[in-house]
Amino acid sequence: MLVTSRSYDEYVAMFGLTRLELSGRVLDCSAGAAGFAAAAADQGCRVVAVDPAYALDRQELARLGNEDLVRGSAIAAAHPDRFTWAWFGTPERRGELRMRALARFLLDLVRHPSRYVAGQLPQLPFRDEGFDLVICSHLLFTWADTLGRAWHLAALREMARVGREVRVFPTVLQGAGDPVPFWHELMADLADAGLRAETRTVDYEFQLGADQMLVVTSAG
Ligand SMILES: C[S@@+](CC[C@H](N)C(=O)[O-])C[C@H]1O[C@@H](n2cnc3c(N)ncnc32)[C@H](O)[C@@H]1O
Repeated sequence: MLVTSRSYDEYVAMFGLTRLELSGRVLDCSAGAAGFAAAAADQGCRVVAVDPAYALDRQELARLGNEDLVRGSAIAAAHPDRFTWAWFGTPERRGELRMRALARFLLDLVRHPSRYVAGQLPQLPFRDEGFDLVICSHLLFTWADTLGRAWHLAALREMARVGREVRVFPTVLQGAGDPVPFWHELMADLADAGLRAETRTVDYEFQLGADQMLVVTSAG
């Protein structure tokens, strides 16, 4: 799996984040080398980032993050039919944003190591409802060809346990952006678990067709 470094601006767009939401307690789950937590904290957000990769040392994280910058650009160049530059403008702008986000993440990791917690779905090391909002970018659904329905249900329930609201982006598979094969069953599973789920279109699209987030809240 990749350790990517999406930027704060991408996160705000992917999750439709408002200033009010960013003033609460936010968990970036599967945060990787994203620059979101560092930038949000600078603006007063009480933010925590969790990822199994935080068990690695900083040099290794920097290596993985840099490796992905190169790999991500190569994938976009090799499959122009799968991406739109409407949000980024140009490949250069994307590269610049991602590089700056990686640098910001690595610096923040040194300055505020406690913000970055090693942990992984479907069992997070946090108390019930410790966060107002849990956001999860490019883990669920992206890898739905290998992580199955039961895993997705467990992961969503776990995020809904630690946060009052969960937002997941995107809602399609990596690659050609195919729909999630078990989507309808999973939505029924969530309802059975007492969770309300809805999709919302957002102002962000890079992988073609990936312009929706799933929002999960308690039905009670
Ligand atoms: C494609 S990256 C996304 C990183 C970041 N959210 C972004 O959008 O740039 C996927 C991340 O999921 C993390 N990951 C893999 N398995 C996980 C799990 N079971 N629970 C939480 N995170 C996981 C990986 O370590 C990796 O950093």
